[in-house]
Amino acid sequence: MSYMYDEIYLAVDNIEKEFTYNHEQLLSMRKLFQHEIEKSNRNELSSLKNDRFYLPPPSGSEKGLVASLDLGGTDVRAFLIELNGNGSFRWIKRANNSLRTKDKDHDYVSEQSSTEKLFDFQAQTLATLTEDYPIVGLPMGYVFSYPVQQDGLDKAVLIRWVKEINTPGVEGEDVVGLLKQALIRNSLAEQIIPRVIMNDTIGTFMASAYIYADTRIGSVIGTGYNSAYAEANWKGTGERQIVNLECGNFDKIVVNRYDECLDAQSSYPGQQKLEKMVSGYYLGELFRLALVDLMTIDKVHTKDHNGVLFEPYSIDTRELSIIIADQSQDLTEIKQWGLVRLEMNLEFNERRAIKRLAETIARRSACLIAMTYAAILNYIDPKGKGKHVIAINGSLYKKMPGYKEWLRESLFGLLDKKWDGLKIEFLQEGPAIGAAVAACMVE
Ligand code: GLC
Repeated sequence: MSYMYDEIYLAVDNIEKEFTYNHEQLLSMRKLFQHEIEKSNRNELSSLKNDRFYLPPPSGSEKGLVASLDLGGTDVRAFLIELNGNGSFRWIKRANNSLRTKDKDHDYVSEQSSTEKLFDFQAQTLATLTEDYPIVGLPMGYVFSYPVQQDGLDKAVLIRWVKEINTPGVEGEDVVGLLKQALIRNSLAEQIIPRVIMNDTIGTFMASAYIYADTRIGSVIGTGYNSAYAEANWKGTGERQIVNLECGNFDKIVVNRYDECLDAQSSYPGQQKLEKMVSGYYLGELFRLALVDLMTIDKVHTKDHNGVLFEPYSIDTRELSIIIADQSQDLTEIKQWGLVRLEMNLEFNERRAIKRLAETIARRSACLIAMTYAAILNYIDPKGKGKHVIAINGSLYKKMPGYKEWLRESLFGLLDKKWDGLKIEFLQEGPAIGAAVAACMVE
């Protein structure tokens, strides 16, 4: 592709505008988000949920040997953990398996897979823990990060898949029951006992509360996006509860034509609107859509590249990280990326344009998530006087260059007061630790 310098900058400027909110727009979405929390907590129709967890926050003194299993958007992970009280713990063993491989060697989350295959795969990942380790009756916490109807500590019916997962037969079923059947099929039922199921945001909350008593929000910014918070008067009952908002489904939000296009072509149009604008599964695709647009503005000939850009979901969010991380004067990494991925020799002004585009899309994600935190904090502490820890887990937050800074800056910009007592903590493996803590509490 070959652009005049001005032309490409004008084009990027225009796309950038579509991906940028001004302060007033963010403030107004913050208010709408808070309103949705309030409505949901009053049992009124809302795009947010208000699912309580069935345990209080831990005391920090929990002790014992426990397992946890984390079914995320891309992997299934099993852990054997020793909790030692005083907010401390030790990893004993861990296993990690991808749910789908790029070469399609296996794929447990497509329409071609089956419930049995998906749950056997989880059981087999757990089996790794029991190799060379004599285990009987080990309590386990199960992290299941999809919208569920939870009716107790160890019963949760999947309402619908999200994050483009399509394994048939699971929606409408109790996933703990499905896991228990898989444990029986794999001769593990006596060794590992699922005790408690929870969302990954609840897991992150529990892990953080095990270490920091002032935890108020548990959040995951990874393949998907969601947050849980400490509610002081759950559904007007006067009870304190940790509540999962399923806030990826927030829909009172200003979208642009790329968001609309992505949503229309997704597996579940109209659902998880916020998630589709902010989370790791989708940012690469938003970038691809914007880049195709940028290239067609100059009527770039498709023969100039290998067609990768015309394949939906061909660009991974990790590639955005590589592009954003390139600080070299000549933008060498981006040049290399163009050669390898697009088979294009990108000119310098094109490389700069691509970097700006990637940054704009990633920064918008951080600003929108900050908006949700500001709404939750403003709701639980309108005076902003308390001490609050926001615990965050997730690959996007951890790995995207600049993300933490954008999020923090945007969050403080959206809070009207000083919030001296506010801390943000990243919790590596938060969901798995939280599930272990919860399993220990139940035991
Ligand atoms: C999706 C799921 C939600 C989960 C989040 C982060 O939004 O619906 O349950 O917490 O992804 O993994």
